[in-house]
Amino acid sequence: MPVLHIQHGKVALSYQDTGTATAVIVLVHGFPFSSDLWLPQIAALRDRYRVIAPDLRGFGRSEVTPGPYPMELFAADISELLDGLGIDEAVIGGLSMGGYVAFEFYRRHPDRVTAMVLADTRPDPDTPEARANREKMADLARASGSRAVTEQLLPKLLARATREHKPGVVSALREMMESAKPEAIEAALRGMPLRADSRPLLAELAVPVLIMNGAEDRITPAEETREWSLRIPRAQFEIIEDAGHVSNLEQPEAFNRVLLKFLARSVRPGADPGDE
Ligand code: MLT
Repeated sequence: MPVLHIQHGKVALSYQDTGTATAVIVLVHGFPFSSDLWLPQIAALRDRYRVIAPDLRGFGRSEVTPGPYPMELFAADISELLDGLGIDEAVIGGLSMGGYVAFEFYRRHPDRVTAMVLADTRPDPDTPEARANREKMADLARASGSRAVTEQLLPKLLARATREHKPGVVSALREMMESAKPEAIEAALRGMPLRADSRPLLAELAVPVLIMNGAEDRITPAEETREWSLRIPRAQFEIIEDAGHVSNLEQPEAFNRVLLKFLARSVRPGADPGDE
């Protein structure tokens, strides 16, 4: 997997870069995953788009640096990655924490975003209860490592259909989570509560936005997502049936079908987004 050195060579960021089209889709993984979260989407999109899926700082094969990792830091990393690759504009997509990063990226660089894909995420800041839970989980990561965090988190992530009928998805997710470095888990958990409230941004998103949510998502429930999606001027909201919080991996066919249709309407495959 290629690596780009950012921050004047201080941080090695690894990323997947597939496809040769000039239209670029950046896919940002959630917590505590890696760019491998997007393997089914990379396979589906690569013939028509160039797909860049970074391992966020500390995750996957990217270098770990001392935390916390606020979403601004992740967004700045992605911006530097795109600079390094000579990419001016892209569709920015993110799942859950990746969505928080996508909001932040748009806030900083609206001119670099041609469309957005927001999956199983929310614009709201953390509630006091969520903050307290993150503190506890960060302590758990430090004291007992990634496996303990996985044990606590994994059962909440998946739909019943996935748990009962898709053992390969469960084990792929487990492996990704267990191999996350405890320092990165802790740094992201201490960074997420620092994020800005993105609700005021919704009405300002001036690009087409696809919002997808697993029907059985218990972390970002579909009904809540439908409500906030109504505040986005050019939104398309879709529910992915038989999926929980990791809808792209749990139901890749349905997810990809919606995504490909949206992209076909919003981005011309092979066209230079700069020509739009
Ligand atoms: C994620 O999947 O990225 C997390 O659920 C985000 C969060 O904990 O808020």
